[in-house]
Amino acid sequence: MEAIDAAGDLGIEKLQSQCDHYAQLFGIKQEHYIDISYSDMLMKQQKGTTSFPVLTTDRLLLRQIVQEDIEHVFRGLSHPEVTKYFAVSFHTLEATQEQMDWYANMILQDTGRCWAICSRDNETFYGVCTLNFWDKTHRKAETGYWLFPEFWGKGFALEAMNRVFDYGFNEMQLNRISAEVEDGNPASAAILIKTGFEYEGKLKNCEIKDGKCINLQLYAKMNPNLVADAERNA
Ligand SMILES: CC(C)(COP(=O)(O)OP(=O)(O)OC[C@H]1O[C@@H](n2cnc3c(N)ncnc32)[C@H](O)[C@@H]1OP(=O)(O)O)[C@@H](O)C(=O)NCCC(=O)NCCS
Repeated sequence: MEAIDAAGDLGIEKLQSQCDHYAQLFGIKQEHYIDISYSDMLMKQQKGTTSFPVLTTDRLLLRQIVQEDIEHVFRGLSHPEVTKYFAVSFHTLEATQEQMDWYANMILQDTGRCWAICSRDNETFYGVCTLNFWDKTHRKAETGYWLFPEFWGKGFALEAMNRVFDYGFNEMQLNRISAEVEDGNPASAAILIKTGFEYEGKLKNCEIKDGKCINLQLYAKMNPNLVADAERNA
């Protein structure tokens, strides 16, 4: 605990080496202490955040996005392959601040969760995923995700999103998670189908992109436990 309480005054490297030291001393496994140290450290970097759910999988650390990640976010959201099917893209680092503010406000206003998808050691930033537009009254949220193209095809998206959807249903108690996918984005549709989403239909002329009306495909996944709970309370 001493190492964690001191996080605000220590550099990241020092903090990590103290965590390693105490973990070894008390025989704590890395997969357990890494959650505590990173989440606490990241909370301290973003004022107003009282808690943040750091998630882990076999190969990934899903941690809070912080201001220092702006260059990664800019690289992703200015990459033509990443943004090909997005409504959002940025041409400058400065303009990307809008996206950083969107992530930060989501956490501060508790309207969703957004994670940086990183390697387990937090050394490599792979991409971002979100559960956004959280509607607590109706227990629903939307999802979005992207990875840098050099990390496509390794199963990272599937691994991250399975964990995130599990978190959404069990911890956020969502009843429904939906996703809107532009026509012709088979990689995104594949992630959704493989994580148990169903195709619900086409939202016609839903957005205007490059001066043309485009359709979006609507996918959604239900939480069977909460559906039953809502029916009992009706
Ligand atoms: C969507 C995205 C995150 C998927 O990343 P990824 O690295 O290909 O995902 P994974 O490696 O976890 O692949 C998951 C499955 O989807 C399948 N898949 C991936 N790309 C596919 C494609 N173009 N067509 C069909 N299936 C595809 C994979 O074969 C894999 O299935 P498998 O487990 O049976 O082999 C990535 O393509 C991306 O960042 N795209 C740009 C951003 C974007 O469009 N986001 C979605 C907006 S709605």
